[in-house]
Amino acid sequence: MHIRVLGSAAGGGFPQWNCNCPNCTGVRQGTIKASARTQSSITVSADGENWLLFNASPDIRAQLESFGPLQPNRKIRDTGISAVMLIDSQIDHSTGLLMLREGCPHTVYCTDMVFQDLSHGFPIFPMLEAWNGGLQRRGIPLYAEPFYLPEVPGLRLQVVHLSSKAPPYSPHRYDPHPGDNIGVLITDTNTGGKVFYAPGLGEIEEHLLPLIDQADCLMVDGTLWQDDELIELMGADKRGSDIGHLPQWGDGPNGEGGMIEFLSRYPDKKRVLIHINNTNPILVEDSPQRAQLDEAGIEVAYDGMDIRL
Ligand code: MLT
Ligand code: MN
Ligand code: ZN
Repeated sequence: MHIRVLGSAAGGGFPQWNCNCPNCTGVRQGTIKASARTQSSITVSADGENWLLFNASPDIRAQLESFGPLQPNRKIRDTGISAVMLIDSQIDHSTGLLMLREGCPHTVYCTDMVFQDLSHGFPIFPMLEAWNGGLQRRGIPLYAEPFYLPEVPGLRLQVVHLSSKAPPYSPHRYDPHPGDNIGVLITDTNTGGKVFYAPGLGEIEEHLLPLIDQADCLMVDGTLWQDDELIELMGADKRGSDIGHLPQWGDGPNGEGGMIEFLSRYPDKKRVLIHINNTNPILVEDSPQRAQLDEAGIEVAYDGMDIRL
């Protein structure tokens, strides 16, 4: 399968329009070694023709222009996007559906919880009905056997619920339900290659391990370096754990309890951090934090990154 990273940043992107943190200002002024990044999305295909879009970011127009296989190549109105799957109902993962209105109907796979949020709190599903049938919603089996999507031949999917966070506008923000956030194991049925994708992962729970163990590649939550990053940098009142993201560097004296320690269990897998917040020092290619990742063999996703499994 071919995995293309369309957007590797968390909500807000990098730089974020209203942010004057050292990273955002540094990348704007060209004074740090870092590249700008758009908001969180990947696309996956087994045959190079039919693409499953994971999340629809507010930056989707630029993301489509950056990747030929998703562009109209065959007829007067066309797209390489065969179906969309939503990992959650966060603004950075769903707003792009509004930008795709000219191409409706689209097939959109999401859980019942995400469908509720996008039908009421942020009612994209009912709104888009006015555009040629809008979004054709399909459910996602949670806790279930692997399944196939007719739109993307050669891919098998298996979904697990995750402990992360529903969006601030959701009635589930402080009342978590299974399906608010999911992780997906994607398998190419021809090559056998497997990726586990979870851009919002607040906690490593036992039930994830059987899927993680099978994967050749882990693409997981890279939002924050440390739990109090937003508090320290901008006086915010939220820790990473409050917004559903496990930091790379845990609270132990040597970073124990964080994502690096967890990923160190899997030295033979390709390990990629994705959904990176603009405050995260790993965005700076010559930072000490980035050197720690290099030493641990962990990569940092960038826009335009291609992975083949
Ligand atoms: C998150 O996943 O926490 C988001 O990136 C927040 C947002 O979109 O504002
Ligand atoms: Mn996000
Ligand atoms: Zn910033």
